[in-house]
Amino acid sequence: MNPIGQPPPDGYLARYEAAAARDPMAGLGLLAGWLRAEWRPLFAELRAHRPVLVTPAFTVVTRFADVTEMLSREQIFTVGAYTPRLEAALGGPVMLSRDATAINWREKGLMQVMLAPEDVPRVRDLAGKIADEALDAAAPRGRIEAVGELFRHVPLRVCAEYFGFPGPDARTMSRWSRAVITDVTANLAGDPALRAASVRAGEEMMAYLRALLADRRAALASGQDPPPQDVFGRLLRTALPAELGFDDERLVINAATLLLGFLENAAGSMVHLVGQILGSPRVRAEAAAAAGDPDPDRFDAHVWEALRFDPFLKLIARVCEREHVLAAGTPHETTVPAGSLVLAAVASAMFDEGAVTEPATFRLDRPDHVRLHFGHGPHACVGAHPGAAVVCEVTRRLLRRPGLRLLPPPEGAVVRDRDVFPDRFVLGLGAPGEKGM
Ligand code: HEM
Repeated sequence: MNPIGQPPPDGYLARYEAAAARDPMAGLGLLAGWLRAEWRPLFAELRAHRPVLVTPAFTVVTRFADVTEMLSREQIFTVGAYTPRLEAALGGPVMLSRDATAINWREKGLMQVMLAPEDVPRVRDLAGKIADEALDAAAPRGRIEAVGELFRHVPLRVCAEYFGFPGPDARTMSRWSRAVITDVTANLAGDPALRAASVRAGEEMMAYLRALLADRRAALASGQDPPPQDVFGRLLRTALPAELGFDDERLVINAATLLLGFLENAAGSMVHLVGQILGSPRVRAEAAAAAGDPDPDRFDAHVWEALRFDPFLKLIARVCEREHVLAAGTPHETTVPAGSLVLAAVASAMFDEGAVTEPATFRLDRPDHVRLHFGHGPHACVGAHPGAAVVCEVTRRLLRRPGLRLLPPPEGAVVRDRDVFPDRFVLGLGAPGEKGM
């Protein structure tokens, strides 16, 4: 169980409080830096001594029980932080911008039908084939720039071939996704330039999708649209009763989420988990052995455990609509103020020893429910099945490659956009020193 008592006098809390007493902004600056670079020890101290930390700018929630309570109570902890950003980009509401509404209920259900779990073997094969082609092309160079050549390349091809959303070209698709997701998740300060870039990207993307819908519909009418192999084709053939309001605009908004939910999360997660696996000789050897096993489940457990040690998405943002007591009935009972921004620290919850057995140990036998990589509660990821298939199969094909290794910085350093989104991660392939890039 977590110890309860005074925080260490030289710990994070003491340093935060001393800085915040002099200047609240300085305290917040310190916290922001630790959340980025020292999250594991920071969260360990918060779970033990201040599991719900209220600051003037946001509240951080760190224990598993409180994080899952928050993410389950969608009428108290709402997605209001995403609403204006997503809706400005898409031109209308979407399931992740609305809580407990008919749109959210109906369209999440519909997209769960469209993203059939039965598709997973096909998606996995597709992702594996594209990954192997990219790895074969890179192998003679003895290097692969894994973000561009693999971790973004494969999801974009899956988006084209399985979702039926190819976009004009990979570069434009990448730009649309990055611009919108940056504003939604990495623009807390509300930089107007980032907002404007997201709105522009969203408008271009929606215009593209409306034209795609018209083309596919015309092809269907003339008998030329192929059978409904892709998700867009399934949506196109779905006729809901008119009173449910699922018109063309609703269709293209949902199609947009196929790119927006996928690309940054998948690519970021693959960078983080591969870094974790390759960073430990023992885990790397075990994962490489499992990658050769015909049963993919043996490998997949390494993926989710490695990602638990360094999740790409560490915090999920909500707005507290009305005052709410978290950790009720415990010595850490805390009132979260109405109107405050609340960060559910999923990265911390997955290390909570009150919920996760031996959290500091790399174990392959964990039950699924302790992993929060795809969120939790009413907004849990609708694309979890195909998303998991792609992340697991791409990294499995990568781990099968002989001589796969991290490279020392600067060449092997992960280069990020805004300190968040990985843009470059060069890995070695083949025998060291065989051939340079
Ligand atoms: C591959 C890795 C993926 C990861 C790690 C991931 C992660 C997540 C997480 C953590 C959430 C919860 C967000 C929140 O509660 O604020 C979420 C929601 C969502 N994801 Fe994913 N996702 C992935 C793939 C996908 C894919 C492939 C799609 C689309 C096909 C998708 C579409 C969505 C949508 C639409 C939501 C919002 C659901 C709702 O509001 O009910 N994601 N995802």
